[in-house]
Amino acid sequence: TAGQRKRLLDAHRVAAEFFVAQLATPEAKTGRDFLMERGFGREAAAQFGVGYAPQGWQALTDHLRRNGFTDAELRTSGLVSEGSRGVYDRFRGRLVWPIRDVTGEVIGFGARRLYEDDQGPKYLNTPETPLYKKAQVLYGLDLAKGTIRSERTVVVVEGYTDVMACHLAGVTNAVATCGTAFGEDHVKVVRRLMGDTGGAQLKIGSTGSKVIFTFDGDEAGQNAALKAFSLDQQFLAQTFVAVDADGQDPCEIRQHRGDEAVRALMESRVPLFEFVLKTTLATHDLNTIEGRVAALRAAAPVVAGIRDRVLQPEYARRLAGWLGMDVQPVRDAVSAAA
Ligand code: CTP
Ligand code: MN
Ligand code: MN
Ligand code: MN
Ligand code: MN
Repeated sequence: TAGQRKRLLDAHRVAAEFFVAQLATPEAKTGRDFLMERGFGREAAAQFGVGYAPQGWQALTDHLRRNGFTDAELRTSGLVSEGSRGVYDRFRGRLVWPIRDVTGEVIGFGARRLYEDDQGPKYLNTPETPLYKKAQVLYGLDLAKGTIRSERTVVVVEGYTDVMACHLAGVTNAVATCGTAFGEDHVKVVRRLMGDTGGAQLKIGSTGSKVIFTFDGDEAGQNAALKAFSLDQQFLAQTFVAVDADGQDPCEIRQHRGDEAVRALMESRVPLFEFVLKTTLATHDLNTIEGRVAALRAAAPVVAGIRDRVLQPEYARRLAGWLGMDVQPVRDAVSAAA
């Protein structure tokens, strides 16, 4: 109900203020040091509302109870976990990022481990609640929406610190998924924001909008790129991938090489199909005929999967060029793979 929704939003606002206040306490020094080391000073932390969840089991729980919230409301909010002796804080001894909806209301939190002896996952997020649906949530959307609309371009990064780094570096259209892969529901959210709701008769790329994915150079990042490939054809936007040559994420790039290097990463983007094809070719030795044939066999299904009638033959031509082969055998291989 609307009444319940308002109570949950109130609980999140109170929790977000609590976490921010905790970041100033002596206990939170490890958290402040973590932020500093990554190039985020006081102002940056404040701009994004970063806070600290204390190590005790009841700090937030008690604070919310004192503010009149019932244990039933706490359970529904996802801010607590439940044990045999009742509810206790879900986020403990972690840095916390408030996750806001497009209007700026806090609907959940993402929390990073700070202590070596913490057995939990590196990142812990709010579970599914009436407010928080992770399949639709994009961290940073409240800050990024204006630029996304005006530039008709969205940058999708992997983590909370990457969103911060991008915005501070001037890439103000960056958002991140929260503990899940970029999926169909995220596509819908982004399409709606860019006004790409024209339906099936519109061709990919015809709206002039762009989606740029940046992934870590690691295996998880590579897999994310391949997943995006399967989603590409649902976008009307042109889809690009920007991956740093040294495999650093935007937060690391800004930390070690500065703001300009983050902006340069975005300029270095390549079309998604090109990225996927070149990643496929990179696993083969193109100096031998056997290697080129094996590479063609691996790459042909990718080209066959391109549904756009103009783009498909274009990529067959480019693939032939990258392989140093004639176009006809490449076309044949693509037809055979379809
Ligand atoms: N992630 C997660 N749960 C984990 C690991 C990762 O939800 N156990 C999500 C987080 O949103 C994270 C993103 O996947 O930001 C990318 O993972 P990774 O590259 O490991 O995270 P970074 O943000 O680069 O982590 P770090 O704080 O170490 O820079
Ligand atoms: Mn990674
Ligand atoms: Mn990182
Ligand atoms: Mn990363
Ligand atoms: Mn580093």
